[in-house]
Amino acid sequence: MVKQTIVERFAEESHPDVLEEFDRASLEELVSKHETPFMVLDLSEVDYQYKSLQAALPGVKLFYALKALSHPALIKRLKSLGCNFDLATIGEVELVESLGVKGDQCIHTHPIKKDKEIKRALEFGCNRFVIDNMEELKKFIPYAGQVELIVRVSFRSKQAVVDLSRKFGCALEELPLLVEFAQQNSIEVIGLSFHVGSQSLSPMTQANAIRASIAAMKVMNSVNWKFLDIGGSFPVSYQEAVLPIADFCAPVMEALSELPENIEIFAEPGRFIAAPSMIEVVSIVGKARRGAKIWYYLDDGVYGGFSGQMFDHATYPLAPLKPFDPTGEFLSSVLAGPTCDSIDVVAEDIELPDMEIGDILVGKKMGAYTIASATEFNFYPKPKVVVVEDIFDPETEAL
Ligand SMILES: Cc1ncc(COP(=O)(O)O)c(C=O)c1O
Repeated sequence: MVKQTIVERFAEESHPDVLEEFDRASLEELVSKHETPFMVLDLSEVDYQYKSLQAALPGVKLFYALKALSHPALIKRLKSLGCNFDLATIGEVELVESLGVKGDQCIHTHPIKKDKEIKRALEFGCNRFVIDNMEELKKFIPYAGQVELIVRVSFRSKQAVVDLSRKFGCALEELPLLVEFAQQNSIEVIGLSFHVGSQSLSPMTQANAIRASIAAMKVMNSVNWKFLDIGGSFPVSYQEAVLPIADFCAPVMEALSELPENIEIFAEPGRFIAAPSMIEVVSIVGKARRGAKIWYYLDDGVYGGFSGQMFDHATYPLAPLKPFDPTGEFLSSVLAGPTCDSIDVVAEDIELPDMEIGDILVGKKMGAYTIASATEFNFYPKPKVVVVEDIFDPETEAL
């Protein structure tokens, strides 16, 4: 586990992106109103992330990947901003449908589906689906003429924190067979897609995948290609800084400039929009000295809002809510979740000022793949989500 030092984090946070900072007074007010653990979804941050990504990817149609965080307030905000949606399950279809999203604003990107999932998406009005193998393509024979298919290609990525091309995606060499079968059965295969991995640390894998996809489209010129879907992967800074989004997207845009103009470009961001939009507020409920370390027991852990530390390989920036002297004494500490399982440790080695039972800690960048994969193990309820319009205030002290 990464060693976390509050002091270092303070240094990092002095960078000029004030949207990263939180207003301590507003948080204290929230703490006075809501019992911990709770998460705070900041809709102004959703706006900011969406607009930053759209500005960095001009002309690219964004489909928010619901799996990262599917809170209705976030979906409604994105809908009002003109965002489209990337769906993978019947549950996701029904959620966006209930919020007034139309089927033609969506793509269904799960490469493996049951027939009833195809039917439900079509009933909703979503007719663009992703496939990545022959068996899946055959499932669309009954729907020929009703669907537009996008073939997902695998581009392995060693530098992405979560490599998504291991489980899904065909090799480029498999494309001609799939295209030929589709044409013989009058099924429209008219797009290519890939996902080079979530929290990608270099844009070059994506840029190379774009160039390889363009080359494949040129070779298969019997197809009237309409879409190229460049997936998600856009990273956020957790413990370590990543490239600003405009710099990350510059080589991606350069590669996309080689695409023929009539081909529409899609992207499926999840993490980039959701992660910075939510923080988690937890309390210390127990404290024990064990060997050289102080163990603090929190009221939420890796079975709850911090589940992304297990499934998503993320380590969230954490800070105490109470003001402290950054030049004062820091103690080597462990932060443990509340459950009876010993794997439930949020930070194994973190430098903290002396904390007391009842003190509050705030976890930042906790919107993506956190509550989405939380459980209620041990009957600890999942943290509730408090929705606010704007929690940061650049005039006040940053956490
Ligand atoms: C098909 C698909 N699209 C989009 C995403 C979102 O990717 P990211 O979180 O990197 O933005 C994922 C993540 O698992 C995915 O599987």
